[in-house]
Amino acid sequence: MQLEKISKTFGGLRAVHQVNLAVKEGNITALIGPNGAGKTTLINIITGLYPPSEGSVRFAGQKIDGLPTHQIVEKGLVRTFQLTRLFKGMSVIENVMVGCHSWARAGRFIPTILNRSSVIRAEAEIHEHARDMLDLVNLKKYAHEPAGNLPHGQQRLLEMARAMAAKPRLLLLDEPAAGLNHYEEDRLKESLQSILRAGTTILLVEHHMRLVMSVSDWVHVIDVGCKIAEGPPKEIGKNPVVVKAYLGKEY
Ligand SMILES: Nc1ncnc2c1ncn2[C@@H]1O[C@H](COP(=O)(O)OP(=O)(O)OP(=O)(O)O)[C@@H](O)[C@H]1O
Ligand SMILES: [Mg+2]
Repeated sequence: MQLEKISKTFGGLRAVHQVNLAVKEGNITALIGPNGAGKTTLINIITGLYPPSEGSVRFAGQKIDGLPTHQIVEKGLVRTFQLTRLFKGMSVIENVMVGCHSWARAGRFIPTILNRSSVIRAEAEIHEHARDMLDLVNLKKYAHEPAGNLPHGQQRLLEMARAMAAKPRLLLLDEPAAGLNHYEEDRLKESLQSILRAGTTILLVEHHMRLVMSVSDWVHVIDVGCKIAEGPPKEIGKNPVVVKAYLGKEY
C-alpha cells in the first residue's frame, strides 16, 4: 500500500500535509506521532471514510482513493477503531461472525435462500472461520461468553479477530494497545505476530512505544500532519527530530 502526497484539510485546518508512506507486504509497519498528528485521519483516508484533499492511495498496483468503503474492504483493507465498537450483548463468536459478512453475503451464498442444506453449510463455514479467527488471538475458550464480559484487553483482541474475519490482506489497527496493562500488551504482541504469520500485513497506529519498538519492521513518524521521519525502529528511537517531537514527551 502506498500513500502519495496525501493531504487533508477540514475547513481551514490542515490535518495532513503531503504524506508519502509505504507499507510493505508481510511486514508490521508502525505509524506514530503525538496526539492530533493526523494518524486516524490517514486511516480514515486509506479505508475510504474520507476522500483525500490531494494525493492518491494505491493498493496492489491500483488506485483506491475515491472508492466506497465496502469496495475497499473487498479489496482486502480492513480497520479497527480507536474506541471499542463491539456488540457487547452478543457472544464473542457472534461478534466475529458479523465480520464475515463482507464475503458471506457475496454471490456464492445466494442459492442458499432456496436450498436448506446449503444454508446449513454456509453457516457452518462462517462459524468455523470465526472460531479460527478467535484462535488467532487466543480467545476461542470464551467463544460463548457475552463480549461485554471480557476485560478491556480481550475486547481489543476481539475487535482484531472481527476485523480478521473479513479476510484482509492489510489490517489497519488504530491504537490497539490503548489502556492495556503489561500482561495484556504481551498478549496483543503475540496476536499481532500470529496475524502476520497467517499472511496478513499490518499497519499499526500506536502511542505505545515499547510495543512499536518490539514488533515493527519499519516506523513512520508524523507530527502536525507532516511526515518527519521513517526507518527501522532502532534508528527511529535515536533520531533527534523524533525524540524532540514525540519520544521526549512520552519516555
Ligand atoms: N472530521 C474532522 N473534522 C474536523 N477536524 C478533524 C476531523 N478529524 C480530525 N480532525 C482534526 O485533524 C487533526 C488530526 O486528527 P487525528 O484524529 O487524525 O489525530 P491522531 O494522530 O489520530 O490523534 P490521537 O493520537 O489523539 O488519536 C486534529 O487537529 C483533529 O482535531
Ligand atoms: Mg487517533
